[in-house]
Amino acid sequence: MVKPKVFVTRKILEEGMKMITQDCDAVVWQDELPPPHSELIKRAKGMDGLLCLLTDNIDQEVIESAGENLKVISNHAVGFDNIDIATASSRGIPVGNTPGILTDATADFAFTLLLSCARRVIEADRYVRKGLWQTWSPDQLLGADISGTTLGIIGFGRIGQAMVKRAAGFDMKILFHDPEFLGDFSNRNVCKVDLDTLLGSSDFISIHTPLNEQTRHMINTDAINKMKPTAILINTARGAVVDPDALYHALKNKRIRSAALDVTDPEPITMQNQLLELDNLLISPHIASASVSTRNRMSIMAAENLIAGVQGKRLPNCVNPEIYS
Ligand code: GLV
Repeated sequence: MVKPKVFVTRKILEEGMKMITQDCDAVVWQDELPPPHSELIKRAKGMDGLLCLLTDNIDQEVIESAGENLKVISNHAVGFDNIDIATASSRGIPVGNTPGILTDATADFAFTLLLSCARRVIEADRYVRKGLWQTWSPDQLLGADISGTTLGIIGFGRIGQAMVKRAAGFDMKILFHDPEFLGDFSNRNVCKVDLDTLLGSSDFISIHTPLNEQTRHMINTDAINKMKPTAILINTARGAVVDPDALYHALKNKRIRSAALDVTDPEPITMQNQLLELDNLLISPHIASASVSTRNRMSIMAAENLIAGVQGKRLPNCVNPEIYS
């Protein structure tokens, strides 16, 4: 039997890779860096399926160059702002993602950034390594309290909600903003509020919203000016939710206390980026879901979506299920 042809834009973890090579005739991009857009266009041609990463811009050109055979686009990520969903849907192509399995790892990491930023863990490490530790002193590296403070969560999907459990251990009060959240989550310590109330009342603000036209640069100068001067901003969602120039000026002028970014705009950040000059910014290279078991499960889930799609079956996790009706 002829196996369906698929293009995999980077090597994924072994379990997922094994499933793909067993059921498909797979071309796998071997470089550590993503294929350039021109290569995506070239390699997609004639494929039955594409498995891509969040670093790949799967736009109209790529989808159209694949041609009539393309039956599925499987994204190895929960977010899918890198894919032109409208074009995929208009051609009846299902797009898969990897929701749920990375919720805990991502919330754990967002909370790690929150704690590290508040208590200046990275600065403390640098301080010791630079040989600055001369003695114990009463005012050395003073940070912000966490227990009993208010956490504002922007975007109250799975990951936003998972932050509530972590914050409960620190007796934090929770404010959340999410116009799309219609569920019932009210208890004494969790309140749905409008964005301005959240910005003005939170000690920590953690972003968990997808990137779309409504959320792009949602955290701009105007939004930052509504925050407390002691606020700490955490972003583990998508870099472009925050306006990087606005954040730079706010941190430089101590308009807010500090920030931690696991995602940047652009990504990766260049070494010339002015944000890297700041001591009150903690930055990591988009690793919130990077635990061994989570990335393993993501590889399996992405493979399952790909294989179901090329076999003409409904994807276990589809972001545009309307194509089935
Ligand atoms: C990571 O950012 C993801 O969307 O999975």
